[in-house]
Amino acid sequence: MTTSTPFARRDFLRLTGLGAATLLTGGGLAGLLSGCSPVQGATLPVSDRTGGAASTPGAEVDIALKATRGEVSILPGQATRVWTYQAEVSKGDPASVQNLPDSYLGPIIRVRKGQTVRVRFTNDLTEPSIVHWHGLHLPEDMDGHPRFAIAPGQTYTYEFRVADRAGTYWFHPHRHGRTAFQAYHGLAGLLLVSDDEETAASLPAGEYDVPLVIQDRTFDANNQLVYLPGGMMDQMMGFLGERILVNGQPDFTLPVATRSYRLRLLNGSNSRIYKLGWADGTPLTVIATDGGLLEKPVMRDYVVVSPGERIELWADFSGRPVGTELTLKSLSFSGAESGMMGGGMMGGGMMMGGGNALPNGAEFDVLRVRVERAATGSQPLPERLSTVQRYRAEEAINRDRPRVFGIAMTNMMAWTINGRTFEMEGVAAEEIVKLNSLEAWEFDNLTESMDVMAHPMHVHGVQFQVVERQVRPALAAGWETVRAGYVDEGWKDTVLLMPGERVKILLKFADYTGLYLYHCHNLEHEDQGLMRNYRVEA
Ligand code: C2O
Ligand code: CU
Ligand code: CU
Repeated sequence: MTTSTPFARRDFLRLTGLGAATLLTGGGLAGLLSGCSPVQGATLPVSDRTGGAASTPGAEVDIALKATRGEVSILPGQATRVWTYQAEVSKGDPASVQNLPDSYLGPIIRVRKGQTVRVRFTNDLTEPSIVHWHGLHLPEDMDGHPRFAIAPGQTYTYEFRVADRAGTYWFHPHRHGRTAFQAYHGLAGLLLVSDDEETAASLPAGEYDVPLVIQDRTFDANNQLVYLPGGMMDQMMGFLGERILVNGQPDFTLPVATRSYRLRLLNGSNSRIYKLGWADGTPLTVIATDGGLLEKPVMRDYVVVSPGERIELWADFSGRPVGTELTLKSLSFSGAESGMMGGGMMGGGMMMGGGNALPNGAEFDVLRVRVERAATGSQPLPERLSTVQRYRAEEAINRDRPRVFGIAMTNMMAWTINGRTFEMEGVAAEEIVKLNSLEAWEFDNLTESMDVMAHPMHVHGVQFQVVERQVRPALAAGWETVRAGYVDEGWKDTVLLMPGERVKILLKFADYTGLYLYHCHNLEHEDQGLMRNYRVEA
C-alpha cells in the first residue's frame, strides 16, 4: 500500500498562505484558487483541488479517513486486491472508529446525534473520488456530490453536526460514472448514529448489536474481483455477483448466544435485491428502516431490501437449543427484470457475455446463524421503540399536484428521469423545491417493454415517508411476489420501485438550501445517468 499525506490540506493552506478563517467551501475555494470551471462529466479530468469545510477547532470527533488500495484474504489461497477505506481518530472518543482488519469494508464510524464531527478525507486512489454520507441530513457541500470529487493526493474536509436520529447509515464514493466500480472494489462503510431515544429503548447492545453488510461479488480463478464480465448488457441491467458476502466474507456464519439480538442489515450490493426470510419460516421482527427505529416493531414473513436500503431486525434465539443452526435466505421472487433486460432473449447468455449465474430473484442462502452458547438476561422486545411523526398528505404544499418523476429508458438506451439524464450542475424547473416545505413526490417506473427493471430510488439530504404504492395491472404478478416485504412504516431514504410500480412519498426540505441528488441506487444505473439534481431554494 502506498502511504498518503493525511495532512495534505494543512500543508496546502500553509503553502498558499491561506489561513483557516479565509477558507471558503470546496467549490468556492477551488474557484478562487484555480479559476477552473466545475467538473461537467465523468470523462473530464477533475480539477486538482482541495476543498471542504471551513476549519473550526470545535469538532468533538476528528477522523482521518483515507481511500486506498490493499489486499485482503477472502477466499482460500491468493489474497484479493481491493480498494478500501481506512480511518484513524485524531481527536475524541477512540471508539468512534472501528476498523475491520480482515475485510475490505470500511471502518464502522459511530457518532451521537448532536455531536460535531470532522472527517478529513484523503484520496489515495489512482482516480478522483468523494465520500457521500448516505441518509444524513447535511449542508450541500458536506454531502459528497460528485461536483466535489477530489483528485488523487487531495484532501476534502467534512465538518458537520450530526442532526439525524439514531440509525444505520452508511458512506460510499460518489464520483459520477465511477461510483459502481469504486464501491464494488470495496469502498463502503457503516455510519451508526445513536441518540437518547434509542438508549431509552434499551435494545441489545455491544456484541449483541450486529452489523451485517450484504453484497455480491464475482471472483476469477486467482481470487480477484471480476466486474461487468458481460460488458454493456451487464451494465444496462446492473452488476450481479455470483457469490454472496456478508461483512466481506463468503459463507458467513454468525455465532450467537441464546438471547435477543439487534441485527442491522445493509444491502451494500450494486444491483441485487434481497427478499430475506428465515429458511424455517419464522417471521421477522423489524425494528428499524433507513432512517432509524420504527415506532413499534412490525412482523413480516420476509423483508425486501434493495441496494442502499437498511433494515434492522430484532432476533430472539433464547428458545433455541445450543447447536441449532438457522439460515437466512433470499427467497425467490419474479419480475425485477424481464423482457430484453432479463429472462428474455438476451438474458440467456447469448448477448450477455458470461450471463448471470445468480439472477435477481433466484433463491439462495445469505448467512447462517449458529447457537453456540447459553445466556441469560436477554432483553425483552420493547413494545414501543421511538416516536415517528407521520406527515399528512393533506399538509403537502402540492397535495393536489404531486411532482411526478417518471423513470424510463429512451430508445437510445439511456436511462432517464422525466426524459433527462444526469447533468453535473443541471436542474430543471420541476426540480426546484422550496426550503421548509412539505412536498408530495411520485416516482413512476414507466416500464414498457425494453426496460422492464426495478429501480431503488434514493433522495439525498432528507428522510422521507412512503404513503402510497400502485402497480400497473399488467405487471402486478412480479410485484405480488415482493410487496408483503416492503416496510413503509418508518423513515426512508431509498425506496424500491418494481417494474410498473408508482410510489408516492412525502418529504420536507429543512435547514439547507442548495443542490442535492436523487437517483437510482442500482449503482450501474446511477453511473449511466439515472440521477438528477434537485435544488432547495429559500
Ligand atoms: Cu448511497 Cu447517492 O447514494
Ligand atoms: Cu445518499
Ligand atoms: Cu435503476
